[in-house]
Amino acid sequence: MTGTITPHGGTLVSRIAAEGEREEWLRRAKELPGWQISPVTLSDLECIATGVFSPLTGFLGEEDYLSVRDRMRLANGTVWPLPITLPVPEDRADQIREGKPVALWGEDGRICAVMEVESLYRIDRRKEAREVFRTEDEKHPGVARLYRSSPIRAGGPIHLLRRPDHGAFNRFILDPSETRRRFRERGWRRIVGFQTRNPIHRAHEYIQKAALETVDGLFLNPLIGETKSDDIPADLRMKSYQVILDHYYRRDRVLLAAFPAAMRYAGPREAVFHALARKNYGCTHFIVGRDHAGVGDYYGTYDAQRIFDEFRPEELGIIPLFFEHSFYCRRCNGMASYKTCPHGEEHHVMLSGTKVRAMLREGIMPPPEFSRPEVVRVLIEGLKGTR
Ligand code: ADX
Repeated sequence: MTGTITPHGGTLVSRIAAEGEREEWLRRAKELPGWQISPVTLSDLECIATGVFSPLTGFLGEEDYLSVRDRMRLANGTVWPLPITLPVPEDRADQIREGKPVALWGEDGRICAVMEVESLYRIDRRKEAREVFRTEDEKHPGVARLYRSSPIRAGGPIHLLRRPDHGAFNRFILDPSETRRRFRERGWRRIVGFQTRNPIHRAHEYIQKAALETVDGLFLNPLIGETKSDDIPADLRMKSYQVILDHYYRRDRVLLAAFPAAMRYAGPREAVFHALARKNYGCTHFIVGRDHAGVGDYYGTYDAQRIFDEFRPEELGIIPLFFEHSFYCRRCNGMASYKTCPHGEEHHVMLSGTKVRAMLREGIMPPPEFSRPEVVRVLIEGLKGTR
Protein backbone atom coordinates (compact mmCIF):
# COMPACT_ATOMS: atom_id res chain seq x y z
CA MET A 1 0.00 0.00 0.00
CA THR A 2 2.99 2.35 -0.02
CA GLY A 3 2.29 5.59 -1.80
CA THR A 4 -1.46 5.70 -1.25
CA ILE A 5 -3.48 6.89 1.71
CA THR A 6 -4.55 4.38 4.38
CA PRO A 7 -8.12 3.16 3.84
CA HIS A 8 -10.75 4.16 6.39
CA GLY A 9 -10.37 2.02 9.52
CA GLY A 10 -6.88 0.86 8.49
CA THR A 11 -7.40 -1.98 5.97
CA LEU A 12 -9.01 -2.24 2.56
CA VAL A 13 -11.82 -4.74 2.95
CA SER A 14 -12.39 -7.49 0.38
CA ARG A 15 -15.43 -9.73 0.77
CA ILE A 16 -15.44 -11.24 -2.69
CA ALA A 17 -15.51 -15.02 -2.22
CA ALA A 18 -12.53 -16.89 -3.65
CA GLU A 19 -13.29 -19.63 -6.20
CA GLY A 20 -13.42 -22.65 -3.83
CA GLU A 21 -15.28 -20.75 -1.14
CA ARG A 22 -17.76 -19.56 -3.73
CA GLU A 23 -18.60 -23.07 -4.90
CA GLU A 24 -19.01 -24.25 -1.32
CA TRP A 25 -21.44 -21.41 -0.51
CA LEU A 26 -23.38 -21.97 -3.74
CA ARG A 27 -23.82 -25.65 -2.79
CA ARG A 28 -25.02 -24.75 0.70
CA ALA A 29 -27.12 -21.80 -0.41
CA LYS A 30 -29.93 -23.96 -1.79
CA GLU A 31 -30.95 -24.94 1.74
CA LEU A 32 -30.51 -21.47 3.23
CA PRO A 33 -33.39 -19.07 3.81
CA GLY A 34 -33.17 -16.24 1.31
CA TRP A 35 -34.97 -13.48 -0.49
CA GLN A 36 -34.66 -11.10 -3.40
CA ILE A 37 -32.87 -7.88 -2.47
CA SER A 38 -33.50 -4.37 -3.78
CA PRO A 39 -31.16 -2.60 -6.23
CA VAL A 40 -30.00 -0.35 -3.36
CA THR A 41 -29.06 -3.36 -1.21
CA LEU A 42 -27.28 -4.91 -4.17
CA SER A 43 -25.20 -1.77 -4.64
CA ASP A 44 -24.42 -1.73 -0.89
CA LEU A 45 -23.27 -5.35 -1.16
CA GLU A 46 -20.93 -4.54 -4.00
CA CYS A 47 -19.51 -1.51 -2.20
CA ILE A 48 -18.90 -3.51 0.98
CA ALA A 49 -17.35 -6.43 -0.89
CA THR A 50 -14.95 -4.30 -2.93
CA GLY A 51 -13.81 -2.13 -0.02
CA VAL A 52 -15.56 1.09 -1.07
CA PHE A 53 -17.27 1.01 2.34
CA SER A 54 -14.18 -0.09 4.33
CA PRO A 55 -14.08 -0.81 7.26
CA LEU A 56 -17.54 -2.42 6.90
CA THR A 57 -17.30 -6.16 6.29
CA GLY A 58 -21.06 -6.60 6.14
CA PHE A 59 -24.37 -4.96 7.02
CA LEU A 60 -24.53 -3.25 10.39
CA GLY A 61 -25.58 -5.19 13.48
CA GLU A 62 -27.75 -3.50 16.09
CA GLU A 63 -24.99 -2.08 18.27
CA ASP A 64 -23.20 -0.46 15.33
CA TYR A 65 -26.52 0.65 13.84
CA LEU A 66 -27.59 2.56 16.96
CA SER A 67 -24.14 4.06 17.31
CA VAL A 68 -24.08 5.20 13.66
CA ARG A 69 -27.59 6.61 13.87
CA ASP A 70 -27.00 8.54 17.10
CA ARG A 71 -23.24 9.37 17.05
CA MET A 72 -22.15 9.02 13.40
CA ARG A 73 -19.64 6.41 14.55
CA LEU A 74 -19.37 2.65 14.64
CA ALA A 75 -19.48 1.15 18.14
CA ASN A 76 -15.64 1.14 18.20
CA GLY A 77 -15.58 4.91 17.61
CA THR A 78 -14.62 4.91 13.90
CA VAL A 79 -16.45 7.69 12.05
CA TRP A 80 -19.32 6.27 9.97
CA PRO A 81 -22.24 8.58 9.20
CA LEU A 82 -24.85 6.47 7.34
CA PRO A 83 -26.58 3.25 8.46
CA ILE A 84 -25.82 0.58 5.85
CA THR A 85 -28.36 -2.05 6.81
CA LEU A 86 -30.07 -5.09 5.35
CA PRO A 87 -33.89 -4.97 5.44
CA VAL A 88 -35.49 -8.39 5.99
CA PRO A 89 -38.95 -8.94 4.46
CA GLU A 90 -41.46 -9.37 7.28
CA ASP A 91 -42.54 -12.80 5.99
CA ARG A 92 -38.93 -14.10 6.11
CA ALA A 93 -38.01 -12.89 9.60
CA ASP A 94 -39.12 -16.06 11.43
CA GLN A 95 -36.87 -18.23 9.20
CA ILE A 96 -33.78 -16.31 10.27
CA ARG A 97 -31.61 -17.14 13.27
CA GLU A 98 -28.59 -15.38 14.66
CA GLY A 99 -25.59 -17.59 13.90
CA LYS A 100 -27.12 -18.97 10.67
CA PRO A 101 -26.31 -17.72 7.14
CA VAL A 102 -28.90 -16.31 4.72
CA ALA A 103 -28.81 -16.20 0.92
CA LEU A 104 -29.38 -12.93 -0.93
CA TRP A 105 -30.82 -13.13 -4.44
CA GLY A 106 -30.51 -10.65 -7.26
CA GLU A 107 -33.45 -9.36 -9.30
CA ASP A 108 -33.00 -12.29 -11.71
CA GLY A 109 -33.60 -14.69 -8.80
CA ARG A 110 -30.00 -15.94 -8.82
CA ILE A 111 -27.97 -15.91 -5.64
CA CYS A 112 -25.44 -13.11 -5.43
CA ALA A 113 -24.25 -13.21 -1.81
CA VAL A 114 -24.56 -14.85 1.58
CA MET A 115 -24.53 -13.15 4.97
CA GLU A 116 -23.65 -14.76 8.27
CA VAL A 117 -26.38 -13.35 10.52
CA GLU A 118 -24.95 -12.06 13.78
CA SER A 119 -27.72 -9.67 14.70
CA LEU A 120 -31.46 -9.50 14.02
CA TYR A 121 -33.26 -6.38 15.17
CA ARG A 122 -36.08 -3.95 14.60
CA ILE A 123 -35.45 -0.28 13.80
CA ASP A 124 -37.45 2.85 14.56
CA ARG A 125 -37.76 4.32 11.07
CA ARG A 126 -38.97 7.75 12.22
CA LYS A 127 -36.09 8.09 14.64
CA GLU A 128 -33.64 7.11 11.87
CA ALA A 129 -35.26 9.65 9.53
CA ARG A 130 -34.91 12.42 12.13
CA GLU A 131 -31.30 11.63 12.94
CA VAL A 132 -29.96 10.77 9.50
CA PHE A 133 -32.10 12.94 7.19
CA ARG A 134 -32.94 15.68 9.70
CA THR A 135 -36.61 15.40 8.69
CA GLU A 136 -39.50 12.97 9.07
CA ASP A 137 -41.14 14.27 5.92
CA GLU A 138 -42.08 11.40 3.62
CA LYS A 139 -41.75 13.71 0.61
CA HIS A 140 -37.98 13.52 1.13
CA PRO A 141 -36.84 10.76 -1.29
CA GLY A 142 -34.43 9.14 1.19
CA VAL A 143 -37.02 9.18 3.96
CA ALA A 144 -39.67 7.78 1.60
CA ARG A 145 -37.35 4.87 0.73
CA LEU A 146 -36.69 4.25 4.42
CA TYR A 147 -40.43 4.22 5.24
CA ARG A 148 -41.10 1.79 2.37
CA SER A 149 -38.50 -0.67 3.70
CA SER A 150 -39.21 -3.39 6.28
CA PRO A 151 -38.33 -2.27 9.85
CA ILE A 152 -36.59 -5.59 10.47
CA ARG A 153 -32.85 -5.60 9.89
CA ALA A 154 -30.18 -8.29 9.87
CA GLY A 155 -26.47 -7.64 10.26
CA GLY A 156 -23.27 -9.64 9.85
CA PRO A 157 -20.33 -10.26 7.51
CA ILE A 158 -21.08 -10.91 3.84
CA HIS A 159 -19.50 -12.97 1.07
CA LEU A 160 -20.12 -11.72 -2.46
CA LEU A 161 -20.53 -14.66 -4.83
CA ARG A 162 -21.42 -12.85 -8.04
CA ARG A 163 -20.57 -9.31 -9.17
CA PRO A 164 -23.54 -7.21 -10.30
CA ASP A 165 -23.64 -6.62 -14.05
CA HIS A 166 -23.53 -2.91 -14.83
CA GLY A 167 -23.93 -3.39 -18.58
CA ALA A 168 -22.48 -0.44 -20.46
CA PHE A 169 -20.96 0.88 -17.21
CA ASN A 170 -18.87 -2.24 -16.51
CA ARG A 171 -15.78 -0.65 -18.02
CA PHE A 172 -16.12 2.31 -15.64
CA ILE A 173 -16.27 0.13 -12.52
CA LEU A 174 -12.85 0.32 -10.88
CA ASP A 175 -12.49 -1.18 -7.42
CA PRO A 176 -10.49 0.73 -4.79
CA SER A 177 -7.55 -1.66 -5.17
CA GLU A 178 -7.49 -0.78 -8.89
CA THR A 179 -7.86 3.02 -8.50
CA ARG A 180 -5.10 2.94 -5.89
CA ARG A 181 -2.89 1.02 -8.31
CA ARG A 182 -3.54 3.56 -11.07
CA PHE A 183 -2.84 6.50 -8.77
CA ARG A 184 0.48 4.89 -7.82
CA GLU A 185 1.36 4.17 -11.46
CA ARG A 186 0.75 7.79 -12.37
CA GLY A 187 2.83 8.96 -9.44
CA TRP A 188 -0.05 10.96 -7.96
CA ARG A 189 0.32 11.54 -4.22
CA ARG A 190 -2.41 14.14 -3.69
CA ILE A 191 -5.67 13.26 -5.37
CA VAL A 192 -8.96 15.12 -5.15
CA GLY A 193 -12.21 13.15 -5.46
CA PHE A 194 -15.41 14.52 -6.98
CA GLN A 195 -18.88 13.11 -6.32
CA THR A 196 -21.79 13.93 -8.61
CA ARG A 197 -25.26 12.74 -9.53
CA ASN A 198 -25.64 15.23 -12.37
CA PRO A 199 -24.30 15.82 -15.86
CA ILE A 200 -21.32 18.14 -15.75
CA HIS A 201 -21.86 21.89 -15.99
CA ARG A 202 -19.48 24.84 -15.91
CA ALA A 203 -19.64 25.32 -12.12
CA HIS A 204 -18.65 21.67 -11.61
CA GLU A 205 -15.80 22.09 -14.08
CA TYR A 206 -14.69 25.27 -12.33
CA ILE A 207 -14.48 23.77 -8.85
CA GLN A 208 -12.85 20.55 -10.14
CA LYS A 209 -10.14 22.48 -11.94
CA ALA A 210 -9.66 24.95 -9.09
CA ALA A 211 -9.07 21.96 -6.78
CA LEU A 212 -6.78 20.25 -9.31
CA GLU A 213 -4.55 23.34 -9.40
CA THR A 214 -3.30 22.47 -5.92
CA VAL A 215 -3.06 18.63 -6.13
CA ASP A 216 -1.64 16.01 -8.54
CA GLY A 217 -4.75 14.31 -9.91
CA LEU A 218 -8.52 14.57 -10.20
CA PHE A 219 -10.70 11.50 -9.55
CA LEU A 220 -14.08 12.04 -11.23
CA ASN A 221 -16.51 9.60 -9.68
CA PRO A 222 -20.11 10.08 -10.88
CA LEU A 223 -22.65 7.98 -9.02
CA ILE A 224 -24.46 5.32 -11.04
CA GLY A 225 -26.51 3.64 -8.28
CA GLU A 226 -30.19 4.36 -7.70
CA THR A 227 -31.29 8.01 -7.76
CA LYS A 228 -34.69 9.65 -7.59
CA SER A 229 -36.69 9.37 -10.80
CA ASP A 230 -36.36 12.99 -11.89
CA ASP A 231 -32.55 13.04 -11.75
CA ILE A 232 -30.89 12.78 -15.19
CA PRO A 233 -30.22 9.07 -15.92
CA ALA A 234 -26.77 7.67 -15.16
CA ASP A 235 -25.91 6.85 -18.79
CA LEU A 236 -26.26 10.51 -19.76
CA ARG A 237 -24.27 11.56 -16.71
CA MET A 238 -21.41 9.26 -17.78
CA LYS A 239 -21.65 10.33 -21.43
CA SER A 240 -21.48 13.99 -20.42
CA TYR A 241 -18.19 13.21 -18.68
CA GLN A 242 -16.77 11.27 -21.59
CA VAL A 243 -17.45 14.12 -24.01
CA ILE A 244 -16.15 16.87 -21.74
CA LEU A 245 -12.95 14.91 -21.05
CA ASP A 246 -12.36 14.70 -24.79
CA HIS A 247 -12.50 18.47 -25.17
CA TYR A 248 -11.62 20.26 -21.96
CA TYR A 249 -9.45 18.12 -19.63
CA ARG A 250 -5.89 16.82 -19.61
CA ARG A 251 -6.18 13.03 -19.72
CA ASP A 252 -2.96 12.58 -17.76
CA ARG A 253 -4.43 14.46 -14.80
CA VAL A 254 -7.86 12.85 -14.58
CA LEU A 255 -9.25 9.41 -13.80
CA LEU A 256 -12.95 8.77 -14.52
CA ALA A 257 -14.70 5.87 -12.77
CA ALA A 258 -18.30 5.12 -11.82
CA PHE A 259 -19.36 5.14 -8.16
CA PRO A 260 -21.71 2.14 -7.82
CA ALA A 261 -23.47 3.39 -4.66
CA ALA A 262 -27.07 4.63 -4.42
CA MET A 263 -27.99 8.23 -3.54
CA ARG A 264 -29.58 8.78 -0.14
CA TYR A 265 -30.09 12.57 -0.34
CA ALA A 266 -28.95 12.79 3.29
CA GLY A 267 -27.08 16.07 2.64
CA PRO A 268 -24.51 16.69 5.41
CA ARG A 269 -24.16 13.10 6.62
CA GLU A 270 -23.89 11.85 3.05
CA ALA A 271 -21.13 14.38 2.33
CA VAL A 272 -18.99 12.77 5.05
CA PHE A 273 -19.94 9.32 3.75
CA HIS A 274 -18.98 10.34 0.19
CA ALA A 275 -15.63 11.62 1.45
CA LEU A 276 -14.83 8.38 3.32
CA ALA A 277 -15.72 6.25 0.28
CA ARG A 278 -13.35 8.34 -1.86
CA LYS A 279 -10.63 7.97 0.78
CA ASN A 280 -11.04 4.22 0.26
CA TYR A 281 -10.52 4.74 -3.48
CA GLY A 282 -7.24 6.43 -2.55
CA CYS A 283 -8.16 10.13 -2.57
CA THR A 284 -6.46 12.50 -0.15
CA HIS A 285 -8.89 15.39 -0.75
CA PHE A 286 -12.60 15.64 -1.47
CA ILE A 287 -14.71 18.42 -2.98
CA VAL A 288 -17.77 19.64 -1.09
CA GLY A 289 -19.58 22.50 -2.80
CA ARG A 290 -23.03 23.97 -2.32
CA ASP A 291 -25.80 21.79 -0.86
CA HIS A 292 -23.83 18.57 -1.38
CA ALA A 293 -26.14 15.51 -1.68
CA GLY A 294 -29.07 17.77 -0.86
CA VAL A 295 -32.60 17.78 -2.18
CA GLY A 296 -35.33 20.44 -2.08
CA ASP A 297 -34.91 22.85 0.84
CA TYR A 298 -34.15 20.27 3.52
CA TYR A 299 -30.57 21.43 4.13
CA GLY A 300 -28.87 24.81 4.32
CA THR A 301 -26.55 25.63 1.41
CA TYR A 302 -23.38 25.01 3.46
CA ASP A 303 -24.62 22.50 6.09
CA ALA A 304 -22.74 19.71 4.29
CA GLN A 305 -19.51 21.69 4.83
CA ARG A 306 -20.20 22.61 8.47
CA ILE A 307 -20.69 18.98 9.52
CA PHE A 308 -16.96 18.32 8.93
CA ASP A 309 -16.24 20.51 11.99
CA GLU A 310 -17.77 17.79 14.15
CA PHE A 311 -14.79 15.50 13.51
CA ARG A 312 -11.08 15.77 14.14
CA PRO A 313 -9.04 15.81 10.91
CA GLU A 314 -7.16 12.62 11.82
CA GLU A 315 -10.34 10.63 12.41
CA LEU A 316 -11.58 11.53 8.92
CA GLY A 317 -8.19 11.02 7.25
CA ILE A 318 -9.28 12.87 4.09
CA ILE A 319 -9.22 16.62 3.62
CA PRO A 320 -12.48 18.25 2.52
CA LEU A 321 -12.08 21.13 0.06
CA PHE A 322 -15.01 23.51 0.42
CA PHE A 323 -16.34 25.56 -2.47
CA GLU A 324 -18.70 28.47 -2.41
CA HIS A 325 -21.64 28.61 -4.80
CA SER A 326 -20.04 29.17 -8.23
CA PHE A 327 -21.38 30.62 -11.47
CA TYR A 328 -20.40 32.51 -14.60
CA CYS A 329 -20.30 36.29 -14.14
CA ARG A 330 -20.71 38.44 -17.24
CA ARG A 331 -18.89 41.39 -15.64
CA CYS A 332 -15.96 39.24 -14.46
CA ASN A 333 -16.10 37.60 -17.88
CA GLY A 334 -15.41 34.21 -16.34
CA MET A 335 -16.34 31.72 -13.67
CA ALA A 336 -16.49 33.08 -10.14
CA SER A 337 -18.20 32.54 -6.81
CA TYR A 338 -19.81 34.55 -4.03
CA LYS A 339 -16.39 34.55 -2.45
CA THR A 340 -14.59 36.15 -5.39
CA CYS A 341 -17.13 38.10 -7.44
CA PRO A 342 -18.01 41.66 -6.44
CA HIS A 343 -20.85 42.08 -8.98
CA GLY A 344 -24.61 41.88 -8.52
CA GLU A 345 -26.74 38.83 -9.25
CA GLU A 346 -28.07 40.43 -12.44
CA HIS A 347 -24.65 39.67 -13.98
CA HIS A 348 -24.59 36.01 -12.92
CA VAL A 349 -25.65 33.12 -15.14
CA MET A 350 -27.46 30.72 -12.80
CA LEU A 351 -30.10 28.15 -13.70
CA SER A 352 -31.86 25.73 -11.40
CA GLY A 353 -31.66 21.99 -12.13
CA THR A 354 -35.41 21.90 -12.77
CA LYS A 355 -35.20 24.77 -15.26
CA VAL A 356 -32.29 23.16 -17.11
CA ARG A 357 -34.06 19.80 -17.34
CA ALA A 358 -37.15 21.52 -18.78
CA MET A 359 -35.01 23.35 -21.37
CA LEU A 360 -33.17 20.19 -22.42
CA ARG A 361 -36.40 18.23 -22.85
CA GLU A 362 -37.71 20.96 -25.14
CA GLY A 363 -34.47 20.88 -27.11
CA ILE A 364 -33.43 24.38 -25.95
CA MET A 365 -29.67 24.87 -25.43
CA PRO A 366 -28.78 26.38 -22.03
CA PRO A 367 -26.22 29.19 -22.56
CA PRO A 368 -22.54 28.19 -23.01
CA GLU A 369 -21.76 30.12 -19.83
CA PHE A 370 -23.82 27.52 -17.99
CA SER A 371 -22.95 24.31 -19.83
CA ARG A 372 -20.51 23.30 -22.55
CA PRO A 373 -22.32 22.92 -25.91
CA GLU A 374 -20.75 19.46 -26.45
CA VAL A 375 -22.40 18.30 -23.21
CA VAL A 376 -25.72 19.97 -23.99
CA ARG A 377 -25.92 18.16 -27.33
CA VAL A 378 -25.47 14.77 -25.59
CA LEU A 379 -28.19 15.64 -23.09
CA ILE A 380 -30.74 16.95 -25.61
CA GLU A 381 -30.23 13.87 -27.77
CA GLY A 382 -30.51 11.54 -24.75
CA LEU A 383 -33.61 13.16 -23.29
CA LYS A 384 -35.57 13.26 -26.55
CA GLY A 385 -38.98 11.74 -26.05
CA THR A 386 -38.71 11.61 -22.22
CA ARG A 387 -40.86 13.68 -19.90
S1 ADX B 1 -24.59 15.71 -5.39
O1 ADX B 1 -25.87 15.27 -4.85
O2 ADX B 1 -23.85 14.63 -6.03
O3 ADX B 1 -23.81 16.45 -4.39
P1 ADX B 1 -24.27 17.49 -7.71
O4 ADX B 1 -23.96 16.51 -8.75
O5 ADX B 1 -25.15 18.62 -8.10
O6 ADX B 1 -25.04 16.77 -6.50
O7 ADX B 1 -22.97 18.13 -7.08
C1 ADX B 1 -21.71 17.58 -7.14
C2 ADX B 1 -20.74 18.42 -6.31
O8 ADX B 1 -20.63 19.74 -6.89
C3 ADX B 1 -21.17 18.64 -4.87
O9 ADX B 1 -20.03 18.74 -4.04
C4 ADX B 1 -21.88 19.98 -4.93
O10 ADX B 1 -21.85 20.61 -3.68
C5 ADX B 1 -21.03 20.73 -5.94
N1 ADX B 1 -21.75 21.77 -6.71
C6 ADX B 1 -22.77 21.61 -7.59
N2 ADX B 1 -23.14 22.79 -8.16
C7 ADX B 1 -22.35 23.74 -7.60
C8 ADX B 1 -22.21 25.16 -7.76
N3 ADX B 1 -22.96 25.86 -8.62
N4 ADX B 1 -21.29 25.80 -7.01
C9 ADX B 1 -20.49 25.13 -6.15
N5 ADX B 1 -20.55 23.80 -5.97
C10 ADX B 1 -21.46 23.10 -6.67
